[in-house]
Amino acid sequence: EPDAIVAALEGLLGGAQAGLLKDRRALVTSGPTHEAIDPVRFLANRSSGKQGHAVAAALARLGATTTLVSGPTHQPEPAGVNVVHVETAREMLDACLGALPVDVAVMAAAVADWRPADAARAKLKKPAKGGKSAPPSLKLVENPDILATVSGRNEGRPHLVIGFAAETDAVVENAVAKRRAKGCDWLVANDVSAAVGTVGGDDNQVHLITADGVEEWPKVSKLAVAERLAQRI
Ligand code: CTP
Repeated sequence: EPDAIVAALEGLLGGAQAGLLKDRRALVTSGPTHEAIDPVRFLANRSSGKQGHAVAAALARLGATTTLVSGPTHQPEPAGVNVVHVETAREMLDACLGALPVDVAVMAAAVADWRPADAARAKLKKPAKGGKSAPPSLKLVENPDILATVSGRNEGRPHLVIGFAAETDAVVENAVAKRRAKGCDWLVANDVSAAVGTVGGDDNQVHLITADGVEEWPKVSKLAVAERLAQRI
């Protein structure tokens, strides 16, 4: 049982490992973002924040000074982690830039790729009874890419930038291309097909993509994936 092995290792090495990342600074993003349509409606996605929060907790346990920039989730704040709560992709970018410099950045958030071009200041209303009008159409604009922005910094780029990839098809092939396109060092590829149940679920089966190649990790809990990633970091 991989989970049992991780737990046993943690118990065995816990004391010795507590300081492995001492004097290192870490930034982690987690959860979805909410992009306002009007004062009561928003665009979002099914991200739970479980994986990102677990990574932040695991890095803090190894002694890293850890900032977690989180979109709206129901996850408890991990112990010993400085949590910055945000709603939108643009707020998440600002909070991430404000947390630099760090030694390692792990971008696990499911950032909305697009937001409504203009959030309405008043609630959008249906026409009065008997009236007729077409349903409103949403005009979307692209959000900033936080991972690409942090990866591409000339000054103060973290030594190690790690992205996540949510893919439903050709997971490894798309993730290998995404690592290059985003300019990050490692990419953790998730299969987010509905059948696999990663989004919102407790388990995760990932591939770790680095410049050296592709590793397939076993399907284990998100906590165990986080622990293994933190060990590797
Ligand atoms: N990401 C980000 N900012 C965005 C979009 C994505 O920082 N505006 C980050 C995510 O946190 C993740 C990585 O980029 O670490 C890949 O996210 P993913 O949703 O898999 O890819 P996209 O860049 O959105 O590309 P696509 O949706 O076309 O697959």
